[in-house]
Amino acid sequence: MNLLKDYFEQISSKIITKSYSENEWMLKNFALQKVHLKNIKLAQSFEKLCNEKNEILTFGEFITEEMYGKNGYYNTHIDFGKTGIEKVWSNAIINICEENSIHSILEIGSGDGSLGIETLKIAKKNNISFKWTGIEVNNNLVNQLRKTLQKIKIDNFLVFNSLKNVSFDKYLVIFPYSLDSMANEVMVNIQNKKSNINSLLGIKVKNNYLEETLLTKDNLNKRNISFKNNIFTGANEHSLDFSSWKLKPFQRAYLPIKGFLNILETIEKINKDSMFLIIDEIKPPPNLERISHLGTPRVLNHPKRDYSSIEGAYHNIGNNLWYFPFYLKPLINFLKQLGFYDVNFDVEDKLAAFLGKNKWNKPGLYLRCAIIAKYKIISNKKSFSLTSPFEQ
Ligand SMILES: C[S@@+](CC[C@H](N)C(=O)[O-])C[C@H]1O[C@@H](n2cnc3c(N)ncnc32)[C@H](O)[C@@H]1O
Repeated sequence: MNLLKDYFEQISSKIITKSYSENEWMLKNFALQKVHLKNIKLAQSFEKLCNEKNEILTFGEFITEEMYGKNGYYNTHIDFGKTGIEKVWSNAIINICEENSIHSILEIGSGDGSLGIETLKIAKKNNISFKWTGIEVNNNLVNQLRKTLQKIKIDNFLVFNSLKNVSFDKYLVIFPYSLDSMANEVMVNIQNKKSNINSLLGIKVKNNYLEETLLTKDNLNKRNISFKNNIFTGANEHSLDFSSWKLKPFQRAYLPIKGFLNILETIEKINKDSMFLIIDEIKPPPNLERISHLGTPRVLNHPKRDYSSIEGAYHNIGNNLWYFPFYLKPLINFLKQLGFYDVNFDVEDKLAAFLGKNKWNKPGLYLRCAIIAKYKIISNKKSFSLTSPFEQ
């Protein structure tokens, strides 16, 4: 567990040296926000969506529109957050498949397809053959990749924009920096004492003003979701139990619903003895003194990555590639409850080097993590306890 220890030590030293006045910062950032949006086109898209959804959006609906809507980031920018992952993982992926007799790969969030193309090229040189299936939610990237594959004559790489057409198989499923690009909800403790989660954040947009608000029971009922006695039940009847999460007064925390639902949807396509490889940035437990607990996104391709205020994040709507790293502990425990075993995780480069049978000797800030796990089919479990991310 060196990964986490090193990470938290570096983070806590940053908190001690913070330069703002704590009260001032808290007063400014803990209140529900009202912000004028500069991106008028996107503001109008939000307003239209609000009209369709009875005025208030869940935070997840709002973020999905911000990222993937017609006027959202991905549809108005060429940059999609390419990571160069193929330079680190191709050899390791070939080894994992060879050692576990896996011949099919399912990649969720394939971007421009670089990981698949590079890995298939190396495999071919070594007389190894795979079937590669990429799932990419951004249709511009799907179309672009299909053209590239035709041009370079790779025919064992299929790409789709959803899991619908994917056949049941024994897969190595790869999430290459995609879980943190899926929408999350934000939960809040609005009580003046330490407490379980008691509210979910909602967003209203009208006349180019964004206003944070709290979702009512009625808002949730209309979406066939509920949040009762610390249990979140989604429209697909899966439920997540948050009883172990205790938040300080006015503390917020992410609830990575879409990522968890995506994992549940993916395992319906996989056979016993499939494997999961999740590569992503991880997030420390929510901490009252850190901006990130407020549900602010991180910004890819920006040296600072975090906004200095929640208002700053809202002002930049639609301009930057946003992502929401996962809390590691709940994710690991969720995988175990789903029937994964041999769940191992480490610093991304280190695990890639180990699995690719290369040497690794680089110190650094270990934000990027990889998790590898094997899958055995268990009963049709519908309810999961989402372990608290806090250190006990
Ligand atoms: C940060 S980019 C990483 C792209 C590529 N894997 C790489 O490492 O260069 C995340 C990608 O995940 C895609 N994505 C996000 N949510 C998705 C989903 N639910 N299904 C499939 N792709 C998704 C995004 O459109 C984006 O292309």
